[in-house]
Amino acid sequence: VLLLRLDEKSRTPLHRQILERVKEKLLTGVVRPGERLPSTRALACKLGVHRSTVALAYQQLWALGYVDLRPGARPRARARALLAQPSDRTAPGLIDWRKVATPTANAALDEHRAAPPSSAQRAEPRAISFAPLEVDRRLFPLVRFRSCLSRAFDRYGEALMRYGAPAGFWPLRQTVAARLVAHGIAVTADDVLLTNGSQQAIDLVFRMIAQPGKTVAVESPTYNATIALLRLHGLKPVEIPLSGAGLDLQVLADAMRRNTPALVYTMPSFQNPTGLSTTQAHREGLLSLCEAQRVPILEDGFEEEMQYAGKVVLPLKSMDRRRVVIYAGTFSKVLFPGVRIGWVAADRECIDRLVALRRFSEIAPSMVAQAAIDEFCRDGSYDRHIARMHRVFRKRMRAALDALRTHIRPEWAEWSEPAGGYLIWLRLRPLPSRRSDLARALAEHGVEAGLGHVFFYSRRPPAHLRLSIATLTESEIAKGVLRLAAAFQELYSRRRA
Ligand SMILES: Cc1ncc(COP(=O)(O)O)c(C=O)c1O
Repeated sequence: VLLLRLDEKSRTPLHRQILERVKEKLLTGVVRPGERLPSTRALACKLGVHRSTVALAYQQLWALGYVDLRPGARPRARARALLAQPSDRTAPGLIDWRKVATPTANAALDEHRAAPPSSAQRAEPRAISFAPLEVDRRLFPLVRFRSCLSRAFDRYGEALMRYGAPAGFWPLRQTVAARLVAHGIAVTADDVLLTNGSQQAIDLVFRMIAQPGKTVAVESPTYNATIALLRLHGLKPVEIPLSGAGLDLQVLADAMRRNTPALVYTMPSFQNPTGLSTTQAHREGLLSLCEAQRVPILEDGFEEEMQYAGKVVLPLKSMDRRRVVIYAGTFSKVLFPGVRIGWVAADRECIDRLVALRRFSEIAPSMVAQAAIDEFCRDGSYDRHIARMHRVFRKRMRAALDALRTHIRPEWAEWSEPAGGYLIWLRLRPLPSRRSDLARALAEHGVEAGLGHVFFYSRRPPAHLRLSIATLTESEIAKGVLRLAAAFQELYSRRRA
């Protein structure tokens, strides 16, 4: 006999209580697999409930795999695999994921663990950080964006909750195309693919070309995540040194003669990490070199909108009459990165391939985010926001450069003055001590900055620091530079000592 205790006062329905009690008996071994359970009628009688209540409980036990039901026979307990319990998660698993994963995936994990993404890093709370290349969240136009989000829902309704097109939301493709036209880039919406940030744009392009043995020419130094991504795709970076004018075209031409790269990856404006922008002449030179060799260029215009000083220089893509340039852009570096929207504009044949790759890997980008950003652009909010960012960062950059000139001695470091963006690249004089002393000295003086070596692939460069003013106000910048000066003072006076 099956002894089940039901609680008539409980809010749990009786059939549910029967189910749970029987399950308990099975899981604790009181009833063993193969054993017969009472008939519906017998159990209903014994418990004083309606037969249909017991029948429902047995039905559900059958559906969950705990009993076998056969017409005319009593239910029979069934051996059922135990459900995984929360405690199982901490016990060692059966699969050795390091063996299952490729060496590149394992290397990516090692790299990821060694340097968590900056937003996940818990910065020393009192430190002033020149490290994150992420817009100051105090400048996020949240209220405005929220009303755009709600307007998008009013306008498009349930369409926002459906799968979107793999190339992106058509109205936003039109909007982005129009913005590119304003930067001198002659494209239409068909030439534009919307991506989850420009990082995905870069990833898709690398995926399109990836094959063992292929190389990609990159500036040295370059955006560190690009180096990691190239490795992940089995592509080999070929480092072309940056001079004050941009990547060294002669070195690039020689490298191309020796071994034609599959692609040249470049950031002509406000280069990460150096903040450098190349001249019109340099851009023309790079373009004609790549045209002559028929090598495509991936132009990363991640901060294109952030030109707030100096002469306007148009993107490479604006001169791209032979369609060798794949242009990537993003809303991350002016508006906010969490919305994850970027774009690629390129030859239609190239775009079609990128669209196909995206479609089979992640179907389509988020409709909600795209529609909201589109509203934000169309009602003029984006232009107003950009104008504000220019006002703010023109002052912040000036404050940073003034403070550097005042407090950082030429015998410690040199730097050049960017025409926009957020980055200043300090080339340090040879350090009297080890490189690790630099990080320690910065930490001790309550200041953080990007350590330069991560932006190089194989070259062992002298010490550099990447200063990002993206998250700091003028007074924070001034205070941060003073701390930097104190750290340098300590580091460089050691030599004399
Ligand atoms: C040079 C460069 N390109 C692309 C990206 C990727 O930005 P997102 O994917 O947010 O557009 C970054 C981010 O820091 C960057 O520095």
